[in-house]
Amino acid sequence: MATPELRHMLRDDDLNHDEQKQVLELAIKFRANRFYKQPFAGPQAVAVLFDKPSTRTRSSFSIGVAELGGYPLVIDKSGSQLGRGEPVADTARVLDRMAYGVVWRTFGQDRVEEMAKYSTHPVVNALTDDFHPCQILADFQTIAEHRGGVDNLHNQTIAYLGDAANNMANSYLLGGAVAGMDVRVAGPQGFLPRPDIVEDAKRIAAETGGSITVTTDAKAAADGADCVFTDTWVSMGEEAEYAIRSKPFWDYQVNDELMALAKPDAIFQHCLPAYRGKEVTSSVIDGPQSVVWDEAENRLHAQKALLTWLTGKARGDDSLLA
Ligand code: CP
Ligand code: NVA
Repeated sequence: MATPELRHMLRDDDLNHDEQKQVLELAIKFRANRFYKQPFAGPQAVAVLFDKPSTRTRSSFSIGVAELGGYPLVIDKSGSQLGRGEPVADTARVLDRMAYGVVWRTFGQDRVEEMAKYSTHPVVNALTDDFHPCQILADFQTIAEHRGGVDNLHNQTIAYLGDAANNMANSYLLGGAVAGMDVRVAGPQGFLPRPDIVEDAKRIAAETGGSITVTTDAKAAADGADCVFTDTWVSMGEEAEYAIRSKPFWDYQVNDELMALAKPDAIFQHCLPAYRGKEVTSSVIDGPQSVVWDEAENRLHAQKALLTWLTGKARGDDSLLA
């Protein structure tokens, strides 16, 4: 038994290079054997909270916690006192007395940070306005499975096109830097990532052998890429900006012409939900290079791996780390 170490997953660089690899290897094992480990046998409860809608995250954490032997306590904003303004710190201390971990989809990153500050169990960011780290683990598991394993991730060039100021863009920057990938993020002026996130990604990439490129040139970003990603142009909470946001992104649509610039065997991923005819054409997302259903399935395996790994750290139980 190692020394217990409370760890959270609030942003993609909360795991270092070797730790991200451990989690991804574990995820691949969970894909091969859904009941590989059951750290929450008892069952022990994991609270799964939603302040925004969800299909994939809700189903993968609900089913995943159950498959880990635990009890998923799923609470929506409309059904919780958190939704009526109860302080995060109070909610955190109550849940901490009952549950063995908290998974939360919310708006501000400061809210998951506050939850973690008052928790003695792992807290996982299930999407904030700033990051979506669980999605990135699933996406990288999918690349590993299609492109020569976890040890080959650092050789990959990934290109994300579209709203480059959103949570997915930020998470590709940080997560890709941790993996040692060559990360390219392209979007129009006014929709580029925050400088502090780009700086963090560059600092990490300098340590892992990766590289970070932020550009307004969609074609340059796609050129020779191993994997092309996009995401909705209108994220949850931005619905009022729909009219403004339908204009600037057309040059970043992932269509056949754009995919033809990537490597001939490049794969296409999208975190979903997808808006066909907007950020991606049907010909791409429903075509032979698309691996979006593997990607969606891997949410289940990657998050089970993450919860197992974090729990192993929190309990000092090395047997849960591999
Ligand atoms: N990709 C993703 O997080 O999907 P949901 O919003 O359906 O959870
Ligand atoms: N950027 C999107 C991701 C959805 C999974 C959003 O935040 O709505």
